[in-house]
Amino acid sequence: MTETSVPGLEAILLVGGQGTRLRPLTLGTPKPLLPTAGVPFLAHQLARARSFGVRRIVFATSYKAAMFEPVFGDGAEFGLSLEYMTEETPLGTGGAIRNAAEGLTAAPTDPVLVLNGDILSGHDIGDQVRTHLARNAAVTLHLTEVDDPTRFGCVPTDDDGRVTAFLEKTSNPVTNRINAGCYVFTRSVIDRIPRDEVVSVERETFPGLIESGELVLGYHDRTYWLDVGTPAAFVQGSRDLVLGRLASPALPGPTGDHLALDGADVSPEAKVNNGSAVGSRAVVEAGAVVSGSVLSDECVVEAGATVTDSVLGRGARVCSGAVVRDAVIGDGAVVGPGNELQAGIRVWPGVRLPACAVRWSSDI
Ligand code: GTP
Repeated sequence: MTETSVPGLEAILLVGGQGTRLRPLTLGTPKPLLPTAGVPFLAHQLARARSFGVRRIVFATSYKAAMFEPVFGDGAEFGLSLEYMTEETPLGTGGAIRNAAEGLTAAPTDPVLVLNGDILSGHDIGDQVRTHLARNAAVTLHLTEVDDPTRFGCVPTDDDGRVTAFLEKTSNPVTNRINAGCYVFTRSVIDRIPRDEVVSVERETFPGLIESGELVLGYHDRTYWLDVGTPAAFVQGSRDLVLGRLASPALPGPTGDHLALDGADVSPEAKVNNGSAVGSRAVVEAGAVVSGSVLSDECVVEAGATVTDSVLGRGARVCSGAVVRDAVIGDGAVVGPGNELQAGIRVWPGVRLPACAVRWSSDI
């Protein structure tokens, strides 16, 4: 299947969520702006949308809405025209799409692409749009397959690809196909979502369309797909981009086993690998090991420290000999010398963990 573009296609990007699962990283920065393989996460989505012919994108903003425009401006730098539509109070996914549609120029019968702002996907958006148009669907949903569908709502289809239900999470799912967070709407269907009301597309709009017999189509494929909503998935997304498991036109430079931004200071005696990304003015000292991790700008990993599968927020410091694994270290936080943090720990911004005098060890 070839990836081809759909000229003139407009898109709405949903970027207003609070990103609670990624706290404390999202306390200061909304999830779509978190550095991922060296650039704000959204840059990957913008570049990908552009590669499919999208030229105009409306951002549906709410949480920390004012932080988006200073980063992306009018979009000219990205070859795009960007518009920002902000909800005064969060309107949920459906309400946000309805509100953002005020910024579209598409005619009622035109297709409109809608993207969740926290998904990495390798699927052929052009093919999804053409399938939508060929079947004259109300909405066409990208569906992906996951190994463990019990963690998601599942989306069964009939033999013709028509979605038959939108099922909540259950321990006994009828299919392992789930909503992959990329929709093609016929514009007039968006205009029917109630205005200025809190609406969920997943719980209200899609089930309502199915109930009333309209064609909600599933576009199923098995390409790369990842929802970066949790710390582990976020780290994995950045790592996969650096390692080239998903191609992105937005990568800021050549990658290999790691990516170091301009101004990063990585000692030749440090070991930085497994898809790690090292931000601007970040320092990795001699003897440090950084594996599969995201180091935001101005972080410091001191001599002999180990950081594995973790995210360090802006200006965070891991002191000499400390060990950090599967962790989230907030902006400006300090992990004192010799600490060995429990996997999964989250250290809040600005917190200073004192030096650990006696390193815990299983044989003490
Ligand atoms: P969690 O709080 O960790 O679940 O993350 P989230 O806030 O991003 O929620 P979720 O992953 O369910 O949201 C899916 C997509 O919809 C994300 O791209 C969100 O930014 C976006 N989103 C969710 N709620 C709203 C809203 O009320 N307004 C807008 N504009 N976008 C929203």
